[in-house]
Amino acid sequence: MANKKDKPLISMKNIGKIYDMGSSTYTALENVNLSINKGEYVAIVGPSGAGKSTLMNILGCLDIASTGEYFLDGLNTKCSDNKLSEIRNKKIGFIFQNYNLLPKLNIIENVELPLFYQGMSGKKVREKSMQALEKVGLLKHIKHKPPELSGGQKQRVAIARALVTEPQILLADEPTGALDSKTGKEVLQMMKGLNEEGNTIIMITHDMEIASEAYRIVTVKDGRITSDSNSPSKIREVIR
Ligand SMILES: Nc1ncnc2c1ncn2[C@@H]1O[C@H](COP(=O)(O)OP(=O)(O)O)[C@@H](O)[C@H]1O
Ligand SMILES: [Mg+2]
Repeated sequence: MANKKDKPLISMKNIGKIYDMGSSTYTALENVNLSINKGEYVAIVGPSGAGKSTLMNILGCLDIASTGEYFLDGLNTKCSDNKLSEIRNKKIGFIFQNYNLLPKLNIIENVELPLFYQGMSGKKVREKSMQALEKVGLLKHIKHKPPELSGGQKQRVAIARALVTEPQILLADEPTGALDSKTGKEVLQMMKGLNEEGNTIIMITHDMEIASEAYRIVTVKDGRITSDSNSPSKIREVIR
């Protein structure tokens, strides 16, 4: 008999999203079926306006679908707002294009924040945050504030903040979008390393070259999934 471990981490069935714009409606997602297992590294790719952010918001429990079913780690996301934020806080680590760090807090305080939201307190908070910052190579900078850091360093802080709660999924929306190509590559290298350590990663991008860093590429166009296949990097690995 299948147990919980065999179930996909993400299971979306016939997901649709209709935005209500007063006098009219706009269908941003239609009939999306997506299943992602623990340990996968998936890129969601598609042109601007395709529905990627809409899909990411639903995947990340920041928004709810208009139609269909979405189970995350076996939990039905059709639930109260409070329950949904609890699921989000426990299960998902977010990495955004523009880092979303709080400029007045120093680095360690930024990383500690999600643990406080979880109700954790005391020494453990500092310990865990230091571990996360060590992982991204930023222990030396913990008292600095975000405006004093380079773009690459800011994104590493954001990765530490995403990791600190040990989430089931890392959800990255254009994580290299604001970085030069060399720094972008370093961030992608870091994400690959995190996947090799067992983290499940979903990365949203409009850039096919960046998407090919992942092992599976899901293409979204006009609110629908138009392809879902292994990426060239995965195929190279299988051949090797
Ligand atoms: N809150 C909203 N209200 C109305 N339309 C929206 C809203 N958010 C997104 N859209 C529309 O849905 C479509 C998909 O948007 P989005 O998911 O942001 O695409 P992408 O991230 O792929 O660029 C776009 O046409 C956009 O204008
Ligand atoms: Mg977008």
